[in-house]
Amino acid sequence: MRPRILLSAITLICTVYAREEAHYLTATAVVTNDNDHAYLECWQFPTPFKTYPTVGQSLFLGNTSNITYVVLPPRSSEGIHKPPAPMFFALLSGMAHITFPYNDQEAWVMEGVNGFLVANDVTGIGHYTTYPSDKETVALQVPFEGGAVPDHDVLGKGACHQTSRLEFGIEGPEEFGQIEL
Ligand SMILES: *[C@@H]1O[C@H](CO)[C@@H](O)[C@H](O)[C@H]1NC(C)=O
Ligand SMILES: *[C@@H]1O[C@H](CO)[C@@H](O)[C@H](O)[C@H]1NC(C)=O
Repeated sequence: MRPRILLSAITLICTVYAREEAHYLTATAVVTNDNDHAYLECWQFPTPFKTYPTVGQSLFLGNTSNITYVVLPPRSSEGIHKPPAPMFFALLSGMAHITFPYNDQEAWVMEGVNGFLVANDVTGIGHYTTYPSDKETVALQVPFEGGAVPDHDVLGKGACHQTSRLEFGIEGPEEFGQIEL
């Protein structure tokens, strides 16, 4: 009886252990190079997802200082600009298209695709953003506390293929090219 209980316990522990493969969040980041030219990188945050107390998963991303709710008109353009402080940009609805003055990269920011970004091109002249949707685009700007950019690994240049989605460990940089529509 006792050995059987022990065996069951070991089997259970092994099953749970096998299911605890670490999952990480990736997000497209607007950054600058040594010449202060803005470009895109795909970042992965080092804290793995953990089981959320109810259902699903969550992870700690970093401390933030304040929050701004922005509404952009349909078919509008911001022109060249840069964020006032390093921040998270979280799309709530609509669509944004990010392009650059010094390279051909681009990122489409849509619900479910690059909806969660880092804007860290605080030096130089920044990037272009247009809002091509027929409806308003709504987003949250969330600066990092003290301007401190959260720890991250750079997976490659260009937009992540997926954001706000579970990633299974670190994949090769060739997996992280431009978003193609
Ligand atoms: C985030 O803020 C909390 C509350 O002030 C603090 O306890 C924690 O150490 C901070 N974490 C980081 C990573 O800065
Ligand atoms: C929000 O936080 C950023 C970064 O810390 C800071 O530059 C900005 O002044 C803050 N805005 C307000 C309204 O407190």
